[in-house]
Amino acid sequence: MSNYHIKHLEEYYQVYRKSVRNPEGFWEEIAEEHFIWRKKWDNVLEWDFSKPEVKWFQGAQLNITENCIDRHLPTRRNKTAILFEPNDPKEEALHITYGQLFEKVCKMANVLKANGVKKGDRVCIYLPMIPELTYAVLACARIGAIHSVVFAGFSSNALATRINDSDCKMVITSDGSFRGSKSIDLKGIVDKALEDCPGVNTVLVAKRTKSDIEMVEGRDKWLAPLMAEASADCDAETMNAEDPLFILYTSGSTGKPKGMVHTCGGYMVYTAYTFKNIFQYREEDVYWCTADIGWITGHSYIVYGPLANGATSIMFEGVPSYPDFGRFWEVVEKHKVNQFYTAPTAIRALAKENLDYLEKYDLSSLKVLGSVGEPINEEAWHWYNNNVGKKKSPIVDTWWQTETGGIMISPIPYVTPTTPTFATLPFIGIQPALMDEEGKEIKGNQVEGRLCIKFPWPSIARTIWGNHERYRDTYFSAYKDMYFTGDGANRDAVGYYRITGRVDDVIIVSGHNLGTAPIEDAINEHQAVAESAIVGFPHDVKGNALYGYVILKETGESRDRDNVRNEINQQITELIGPIAKLDKIQFVSGLPKTRSGKIMRRILRKIASNDTSNLGDTSTLLNPEIVKEIMDNVL
Ligand code: PRX
Repeated sequence: MSNYHIKHLEEYYQVYRKSVRNPEGFWEEIAEEHFIWRKKWDNVLEWDFSKPEVKWFQGAQLNITENCIDRHLPTRRNKTAILFEPNDPKEEALHITYGQLFEKVCKMANVLKANGVKKGDRVCIYLPMIPELTYAVLACARIGAIHSVVFAGFSSNALATRINDSDCKMVITSDGSFRGSKSIDLKGIVDKALEDCPGVNTVLVAKRTKSDIEMVEGRDKWLAPLMAEASADCDAETMNAEDPLFILYTSGSTGKPKGMVHTCGGYMVYTAYTFKNIFQYREEDVYWCTADIGWITGHSYIVYGPLANGATSIMFEGVPSYPDFGRFWEVVEKHKVNQFYTAPTAIRALAKENLDYLEKYDLSSLKVLGSVGEPINEEAWHWYNNNVGKKKSPIVDTWWQTETGGIMISPIPYVTPTTPTFATLPFIGIQPALMDEEGKEIKGNQVEGRLCIKFPWPSIARTIWGNHERYRDTYFSAYKDMYFTGDGANRDAVGYYRITGRVDDVIIVSGHNLGTAPIEDAINEHQAVAESAIVGFPHDVKGNALYGYVILKETGESRDRDNVRNEINQQITELIGPIAKLDKIQFVSGLPKTRSGKIMRRILRKIASNDTSNLGDTSTLLNPEIVKEIMDNVL
């Protein structure tokens, strides 16, 4: 029998050792006993990080939707699979059973096929958190189309870049979306994006806000009537374990976003296994992850991981502050949520509000609390533990990435004793290493270094869509034969890991990864701007906020600086999305640069963080005098 469900610490250590001594044997057992395959693999694992190439369950055939839906029908047909909680609490929640999910997914899959989508085609999904988003994701998977979900907070420009990068031929969207008291014109954003996307020939539109929108003849179709007519039966396509399942874009420190490619077999096995253990999910539990399916957290831990375990997974359309700051807790009480998984930025925002919002509700159903997306600071950890968990529900601080597909370092609740701000121990099968800047592994405990992973796990991304070289350069060139995460970490006396944050130019704002280069490009497009540099600085709710240093062109004209600031943020909103707006913009006459012309962000970061006691040696800069000017005028 495989160790599918770990229940105590000794068992964790025993299973961990097994998974590291014989990874192939370990994962083969898990895959064999807990999933349905149309054909078994020829080879459990082939890998070479120098190429890099990773293949799990090569030769196997499966369809992930059979594992997430069909196989549950005999025993769970009437169990709620997706529990949709709308933005407005006055609107009724929707319990979508496994039986209904099967029907909807098959219908949508047939609609996709009827509109020319075939196995291997890319479909862009730009939808709010409404049931159609889950149907669309699974419908693609059912027919072997590769879904590329773009978070519906991205601008038309960002959407167009992503559609074109992966040559999507279809976009699935909605008329609009509700977020708190706002209604957003999603279809308008899609229309604008498609002006630059000649490859898209069909747009399927779900109805949500019932707002007035333009339908382009021959291209745009309402989804509901097509689904109503479609057959509720659709054979699942046979997929090879290594066929792509989806593309999901993530920001890099430079260049355009990276379309991370995840494949069918390994991703399914790893997300299902981590979900079961890290949330200690049991059959009757109601599980809620507050993320958006537009991010990896939603892919792995709202859709695939939970459904592969036959779980009930809440899909929440709204925001934590609407109609008031008690919304999360109201939903916990209403649906008797057992596992609650959210981001530190949400916890910090709610911790600022009156405790009455929380104390009004009965949170006694909660058994496990999760955190993801950025380091959780000690204060937020204690607030979460004391007030939400009442010191009874363990907090799982889960560290992972879009690229890793599933959770990599995390406590197992009721198994691993937790320590505030520590993601604690590597999950089963994960072999972390801390590296120094010279490329040597730092052994032992009470050390700090750059976090790498030495051995492949089943859900590692296989490539960057259309750019394997960039995949190698970004993740496998810094350290020989290692996957480099881009994060720094330390390991304490008992071997627990604490993630300290990014060591590259990615900045995490409210849990969202933002690359510096695309934002600087957006700023530089403003006609008055000559050059710019952005850095992160600590922010008590967002974790980090963005600080921009901007050099204006010398035109002799005087400009209202606040106007320029607004225009710059407007420009960023249009080109990327509101999540990338700058909190502070300082106009400077120059930027500190090395003799080779590279901006010294380290210095700018320290100034923005008001931490100028130790700026290091600035004398080797091309323009050392600029540092004082910037410091004197810091905002
Ligand atoms: O810096 C780490 C941070 O988020 C990055 C990955 O972001 P993304 O690909 O958007 O995926 C987020 C959701 C999995 C990581 O490189 N990060 C994520 N989780 C944690 C974290 N930092 C500290 N603690 C965490 N629990």
